Amino acid sequence: MANVLITGGAGYIGSHTAVLLSQEGYDIYIIDNFINSEPSALRAVEKIISKCVQFSEVDLTNSEELDAVFSKNSFDAIIHFAGLKSVSESVGDPLKYYNNNISSTLNLLNSMCKYNITKLVFSSSATVYGKCETVPLAEDFPIGQTTNPYATSKFVQELILKDVALSNNLNIMALRYFNPVGAHTSGLLGEKPRGIPNNLCPYILQVLSGKLDRLNVFGDDYETADGSAIRDYIHVVDLAIGHLKAIEKLLCAESSVSYDAINLGRGVGVSVLEMIKSFESATGRKVPYKIAGRRQGDLPVSYAATDKASAELGFQAERSIEQACLDLWRYQEHLNKTGTSKEQSVREK
Ligand code: NAD
Ligand code: UFG
Repeated sequence: MANVLITGGAGYIGSHTAVLLSQEGYDIYIIDNFINSEPSALRAVEKIISKCVQFSEVDLTNSEELDAVFSKNSFDAIIHFAGLKSVSESVGDPLKYYNNNISSTLNLLNSMCKYNITKLVFSSSATVYGKCETVPLAEDFPIGQTTNPYATSKFVQELILKDVALSNNLNIMALRYFNPVGAHTSGLLGEKPRGIPNNLCPYILQVLSGKLDRLNVFGDDYETADGSAIRDYIHVVDLAIGHLKAIEKLLCAESSVSYDAINLGRGVGVSVLEMIKSFESATGRKVPYKIAGRRQGDLPVSYAATDKASAELGFQAERSIEQACLDLWRYQEHLNKTGTSKEQSVREK
């Protein structure tokens, strides 16, 4: 079976993808510097797959560290998750985002070319579309009308990847994720935000756990059925399946892809108030909330056109929002029980 390098594999989406690829028989090799994750995520992956994971603690902005991994291993393909992802942090410190995200991708491309690795799946984001007039958002819409440095870093990385793919005969697929939610059904793996979460589901989970008093619903005066903003929430295990399909396609001998970008979403819009109701029915608990003003930079409605993922990858998200809420709550209860936090975890080097 093919050997797949997973950058950022200790993170939320990377760890779920690592589990699935390993369960499907792939050899996986993870690199991460734990800037936004913990070694305990790798232990959870190992527990689920009942196998040790090959891992190196590497900062992708350090080209020597990265080259050392390539010099000692042979990879058939790479999935590049590593990157910083907080929209609000990127607004406060754009250079941190440009340095980390763009340097990591440049170093990875240099190592790929040096060691003749030609296949790459890249974590892009629906944020590359920025402000578009119409939904669903389709891959042939113009990109680059970005509203924050995080999104701009993804847009720029897509441009770089396309240029290098075409000139250096690489096969690269950029997957544009919509709103990843959910957790592994085992309850052992999920997303562990630091501090007060910015994103909707992690915030609701802290409210449900009694750590935060109530949710602020950012706007109830959008032109949507209930006035709250609409997003395309996709279960993280469905996202992992999307990556599996992308890797299968890239590894397939007849693949003629040189550069392509594909949305990964459910293609279904869900409002903030609907999300609250789903959590309430999944957990049997109330989510106290108040209506707050709109959050700056938020789009009213965003959801994916899914035809391309279906046609090119044979991918269709299957898990419901209710399933995502159940899995998220199961993982939250696991965290509440084990009391795991960044402070308590022992850093393994
Ligand atoms: P995450 O923060 O949980 O995982 C990213 C991982 O990359 C972390 O483990 C982090 O430690 C690692 N990392 C970051 N910079 C690194 C570096 N220089 N060297 C080595 N490791 C590094 O995030 P996630 O939610 O799993 O997202 C994965 C990818 O998907 C990111 O590129 C993100 O921008 C993209 N994405 C995420 C979302 C989302 O809402 N979660 C949406 C769209 C796109
Ligand atoms: N929201 C609230 N209250 C909160 C948090 C969020 O009402 O406390 C609302 C937001 O206004 C928005 C929706 O919930 O309408 C979803 O917000 P998130 O912050 O969870 O997600 P975003 O759509 O803003 O962005 C996310 C990630 C990006 C990623 C993008 C992909 O943060 O990194 O999805 O579409 F790129």
